[in-house]
Amino acid sequence: MRQAGRYMQHYRDVRAKVSFLDLCKTPDLVAEVTVTPVERLNVDAAILFADILLLLEPMGVGLEYATGGPVIQRPVRTGGDIDALRDPVPEESLSYVYAAVRSTRAALNGRVPLIGFCGAPFTLASYLIEGGASRNYIHTKRLYHTDPGAWNALMERLVASTLSYVNAQIDAGIDALQVFDSWVGCLAPDDYREYVLPHMRRLMAGVTPGVPVIHFGTGTCGLLELMREAGSDVMGVDWRVDLDEAWSRVGHDMAIQGNLDPVALFAPPAEIRRRVGDILRRVQGRPGHIFNLGHGILPETPVDHVRAMVDAVHELSA
Ligand code: CP3
Repeated sequence: MRQAGRYMQHYRDVRAKVSFLDLCKTPDLVAEVTVTPVERLNVDAAILFADILLLLEPMGVGLEYATGGPVIQRPVRTGGDIDALRDPVPEESLSYVYAAVRSTRAALNGRVPLIGFCGAPFTLASYLIEGGASRNYIHTKRLYHTDPGAWNALMERLVASTLSYVNAQIDAGIDALQVFDSWVGCLAPDDYREYVLPHMRRLMAGVTPGVPVIHFGTGTCGLLELMREAGSDVMGVDWRVDLDEAWSRVGHDMAIQGNLDPVALFAPPAEIRRRVGDILRRVQGRPGHIFNLGHGILPETPVDHVRAMVDAVHELSA
């Protein structure tokens, strides 16, 4: 996550010349910033350089990347706002993403698989409704508490546009799909069951068969059994739960992804290696574990520590 990002000098050099959105919309640059970390870090997969919020731009809400993070200029708060949203036609308004998939695949030349991704409807809705990042999700939760009909209408529209968005990524050649429900851990289990799970089920069921789907969230300790019911192939977990505990709770018939704390990368390399070993021991030799961080790499992270982590994973899991 954020494999291509500000912790790398190469990425900062590219970003000095082009805005984040223009970078996402330039397929050759996307290929370059996606492939560079694969080469420098020796990781086993590439994740397409894009953003979960790109799908919101053609809905007409005014997407902007400010220094403090993404901003939705015209947040949706009422049933009327939701009715006024445009339904994106990803093949048209997001054609640059599919061009980026094709140019990245060409640049990778079969060296490693390419992961495509999207935001999950709850996390996308939280940005649409709050207008940006949030601490307490007051507007989001208030909408489902006060107007569940409007909430469900919004979630249904997000599921429909997300499905056209990701199925076209699959047509363009991604090898796996990651669905980011980054902020879903703010929900009580009963609210997840009622207001999110039915939509996640429809999303997972609508993905074109043939590519593995990873379902990721943070702070999801209280939700893992429910998230399993959504029906992905892989569950991604953060570091707030032990990997073996998470895996037995979602079931060993599912693959698991995780779960080093990204801040552990600020420890000395010997300590990083020890932490990697701890996670691999919890796997107990079972097939179906994808080693990953529990969330995105932070911009201040030393690149050589990231490389030390990757080397440790390869050596200790050999
Ligand atoms: O991992 C990769 O290399 C692929 C690129 C990627 C980005 N965003 C690029 C990005 C991926 C997989 C995402 C997903 C994403 N975007 C998520 C889900 C994953 C997660 O981290 O929870 C979310 C919630 C977003 C929304 C978003 N976009 C946020 C919160 C931010 C600000 C982050 C920050 O640190 O400022 C962005 C902007 C963004 N997306 C950046 C990158 C590299 C930084 C923008 C910059 O270059 O200035």
